[in-house]
Amino acid sequence: MAKLDAAQSGHFQIGGDLTVNRLGFGAMRITGPGIWGDPEDEAEAIRTLQRLPEIGVNFIDTADSYGPDVSEILIRDALHPYEGVVIATKGGLLRTGPNVWVPLGRPDYLRQQVHMSLRHLGVERIDLWQLHRIDPTVPRDEQFGVIKEFLDQGLIRHAGLSEVSVEDIEAASKVFKVATVQNRYNLIDRAHEAVLDYAEANGIGFIPWFPLAAGDLAKPGTVLDTIAHRHEASPSQIALAWVLKRSPVMLPIPGTSKVKHLEDNVAAATISLDDEEFAALDREGRAAFERGGPRLPPR
Ligand SMILES: NC(=O)c1ccc[n+]([C@@H]2O[C@H](COP(=O)([O-])OP(=O)(O)OC[C@H]3O[C@@H](n4cnc5c(N)ncnc54)[C@H](OP(=O)(O)O)[C@@H]3O)[C@@H](O)[C@H]2O)c1
Repeated sequence: MAKLDAAQSGHFQIGGDLTVNRLGFGAMRITGPGIWGDPEDEAEAIRTLQRLPEIGVNFIDTADSYGPDVSEILIRDALHPYEGVVIATKGGLLRTGPNVWVPLGRPDYLRQQVHMSLRHLGVERIDLWQLHRIDPTVPRDEQFGVIKEFLDQGLIRHAGLSEVSVEDIEAASKVFKVATVQNRYNLIDRAHEAVLDYAEANGIGFIPWFPLAAGDLAKPGTVLDTIAHRHEASPSQIALAWVLKRSPVMLPIPGTSKVKHLEDNVAAATISLDDEEFAALDREGRAAFERGGPRLPPR
């Protein structure tokens, strides 16, 4: 097997000045069932985190709500003082139990959560802070205004949004510079093509969550299965290679709690799909999306 190195996925500059390898890591899965409490195997979760810089992964996505707090604290325990690893976190979802996620965008709550993330991660400034959801019960300009305040105060270096439309990004951009957008996207979930195109046109990083999904396309005999065999890869590795090829602003963050799965995912950075394979997968993925899209994961 070729040397594992996430740098083979290429680079992106978040906010124009924070360089990361495009293939990152999502740290939602290093928590308990329902993204609640401690992981079942904490030692393996720590090993997974410590393996990241060894194989070139220098972009980690987390959130205050993963656990809550568990993911941020494990990241600090495993990797502080980070040395070249960019940690992105999110705030704006309240947790009241396993699998329960409640948008809460009141400025005072967001302020509290930024300070808690700073403390849990053990940093003086957060590299990238993302509003996890726009709270529909609070005027969105109030939420954008407090993000501008975090940037001006130097609490955060860059800011992003999650699960937003082009219109939301345009409204936010009047208040602060939107560095990234994190929306659900994968081979068979194409609901946010317009947001991705907008991000690409404007140099905004697009962080697709749930990037490994391939659904029924992974079944034997499909185009995906044939291409996977050709590359001696798994269907989810091909799905990830397809996502990476889709756009130079694409920053996928596949998530796992296991070293073996992490290594499988990073190996996808070495897979080079040709244009014909890319187009065939694109057609199949769009058709699958139009037939009904993927199953829903947690947040
Ligand atoms: N902004 C948002 O609203 C939002 C919502 C959801 C997620 N996210 C972010 O996006 C990241 C990724 O999303 P996600 O975790 O839903 O989707 P994902 O990364 O596409 O899939 C993760 C699932 O696949 C399994 N898995 C990972 N690698 C595998 C491999 N090589 N072989 C077999 N199974 C594998 C994981 O279980 P194992 O632990 O067993 O490997 C886990 O159940 C999260 O970590 C989080 O940072 C953001």
